[in-house]
Amino acid sequence: MPQLHKMAEQAIGNARDGQELYAIKTDYLGKNGKITEIMKQIGQMEPEKRKDFGAQLNQVKNDLEAKIQARQAILDNLALNAKLQGEYVDLTLPTGEMGFGSLHPVGQTIEEIITIFGQMGFQYADGPQIETDWYNFTALNIPPSHPARQMQDTFYVDKNDSDGNPFVLRTHTSPVQIRGSLSMGKNGTEPVRIIAPGRTYRSDSDITHTPMFHQVEGIVIEKNIHFGHLKGCLQDFCADYFEVSGVPLRFRPSYFPFTEPSAEVDIGCSRKDGNLRIGAGDSWLEILGSGMVHPKVLQNAGYDPNEWQGFAFGMGIERIAMLKYGIPDLRDFFHGDSRWLNHYGFKPWQNPCLLRSLVA
Ligand code: PHE
Repeated sequence: MPQLHKMAEQAIGNARDGQELYAIKTDYLGKNGKITEIMKQIGQMEPEKRKDFGAQLNQVKNDLEAKIQARQAILDNLALNAKLQGEYVDLTLPTGEMGFGSLHPVGQTIEEIITIFGQMGFQYADGPQIETDWYNFTALNIPPSHPARQMQDTFYVDKNDSDGNPFVLRTHTSPVQIRGSLSMGKNGTEPVRIIAPGRTYRSDSDITHTPMFHQVEGIVIEKNIHFGHLKGCLQDFCADYFEVSGVPLRFRPSYFPFTEPSAEVDIGCSRKDGNLRIGAGDSWLEILGSGMVHPKVLQNAGYDPNEWQGFAFGMGIERIAMLKYGIPDLRDFFHGDSRWLNHYGFKPWQNPCLLRSLVA
């Protein structure tokens, strides 16, 4: 009996996995197991021997059961560790290293825009997507009865702000003109150069509109700023972004309540044989809205309009991404189709480098 006990202990200690352990358990403690067989014989023993032997056998049985359980716990732990080791992912590796994952063209385009304006001394700013009526409209010289409010297909939120007006999903990034200038301009005492990309919303959906899209807002407030600065700034941006030096731009008179004068900007292109080419040709394509910051807006941003001037511009990020990367349908940006992302997405280490000092 002690020998049998020892053999069983050894076998348990050597079991390499749950299956082996189970076989050992059956071999000793199962219905026809070695220990069970001995137990069956107890009945035929002499009564005085039976008691001691029975107790001893029970002890062996309990001991083996405890050892099997302990071994099982060790094996479970080893199996878990092996599984975790097998599934190990180094999250610090760039995703593309593993053959999947990419930057969405919107994210890529935002990076490019920030890189270019960053070199011109612009600072990044952000604002909430759920905006108050004041920041989205009133502060931008769009009072309550203004027709521009209807033009923007606003989504209203079922909750009122402190003025008793419903919150809105911001219809453009222009509220950041006010928010950014107020916080960075230190109450109208410091100049600002702000670049503010982000999500915007309008209740509109067709081949060229989606209810959520992205815009980027730029605003510069300084002393002695004039329209020529706006032109030069956008000219440099377009040359860098589209990587076409001297790209032709056309400033067309337009109207925005928050800028005066206002201009829409077209970029020169050709459309030969159905192919759109940016940078030359006899055709024009609208890419952004811009103008000199309206005195009332300067005031709402904390500045004295007699001393300070500024220019601002806003453009659709998907739109300029489509133009640069030849993406035909706006709606595909938001379908989350991995085939589209594989095709149009960017590997993080293959970004076009737009640092001017390196390109020039
Ligand atoms: N906010 C305007 C729009 O959404 C764009 C714009 C921004 C125009 C700044 C002029 C100045 O259409």
